[in-house]
Amino acid sequence: MTIFQNKLKYSDVTPKKVFLNRRQIIAGTSAVGISSYLPNSVYADVLKHTKTNYTVDAEITSKSDATSYNNFYEFGTGKGDPKNNASMMQTSPWSVKVNGLVNNPGDYDLDDLLAGIDLEERIYRFRCVEAWSMVVPWIGFSLSKILDKVGVQSKAKYVAFQTLNRPSEMVGIGANPRFPWPYVEGLRLDEARNPLAMIATGMYGESLPNQNGAPLRLVVPWKYGFKSIKSIVRITLTDTQPETTWNKLAPQEYGFYSNVNPTVDHPRWSQATERVIGGSIFKLGSPLFSGAKRDTPMFNGYEEEVASLYSGMDLSKFY
Ligand code: MTE
Repeated sequence: MTIFQNKLKYSDVTPKKVFLNRRQIIAGTSAVGISSYLPNSVYADVLKHTKTNYTVDAEITSKSDATSYNNFYEFGTGKGDPKNNASMMQTSPWSVKVNGLVNNPGDYDLDDLLAGIDLEERIYRFRCVEAWSMVVPWIGFSLSKILDKVGVQSKAKYVAFQTLNRPSEMVGIGANPRFPWPYVEGLRLDEARNPLAMIATGMYGESLPNQNGAPLRLVVPWKYGFKSIKSIVRITLTDTQPETTWNKLAPQEYGFYSNVNPTVDHPRWSQATERVIGGSIFKLGSPLFSGAKRDTPMFNGYEEEVASLYSGMDLSKFY
């Protein structure tokens, strides 16, 4: 299954500067002067580099559903609020502070942070803790590529992430002053190094829309969606387990690990099944008509890839 059949321009796929950096590497030449003349065949070349075997045996959620039914509390708590309000967020210039137990700390301009990293498409299941799910074609790369670039020191055990905290452009922040802004998340270092853990800069063949976490976000497909922190401005390597927003708010409901687990219910609802977002009643006969439920698989279907990370843990317990 590929989504690259429509006539998209190269500039639709990645932020232009990211694309040009890649072109410089691919072509070994300065992008200056050629940028406005790149033909679609060049675009096709780049796309070749973006295809991977990461896919799932399920229908891809429509782009309109994945970009209009969102959780991004910085823009409001309603599912439609992020789409309505996120265009206010300025995503360029964008810098990411990398600090803590790293050899190359600093404030990285996004282009510098991503330079030399090839982008690839990965179709992942996405399971929200609220018991709904989507299937999303992300564009990005393994988080470990950034970790390699910044040089993780041997004492580091965790990676902490932080979202932009700019109330003037994020109307949900002022509207919800008791929420512990900024949104923060974290992973154990070995989780972060698992090849499935991804930094996404695009989806559906285009740059990430603001409401989905532009210009870069985490995607951790075996964990509940709230671990996949959006619009990242800080990455910190640490030797202590970092605080995470939802764990601070309701520790009995949202654990640090929060691996998708159909056998451990949320205190207020079952996690055994999920509501598949999208589809329509015209697809009756397929399991994907609106409101359809499917059984939630252990680790959201990624058990083979990640179960060994948790070999000492009792999977019938809440973490
Ligand atoms: N990141 C930030 N900064 N703020 C948020 O409110 N919501 C999380 C996660 N990342 C959230 C966030 C939750 S609960 C989910 S389910 C996913 O983003 C939703 O991602 P999507 O809107 O791209 O589907």
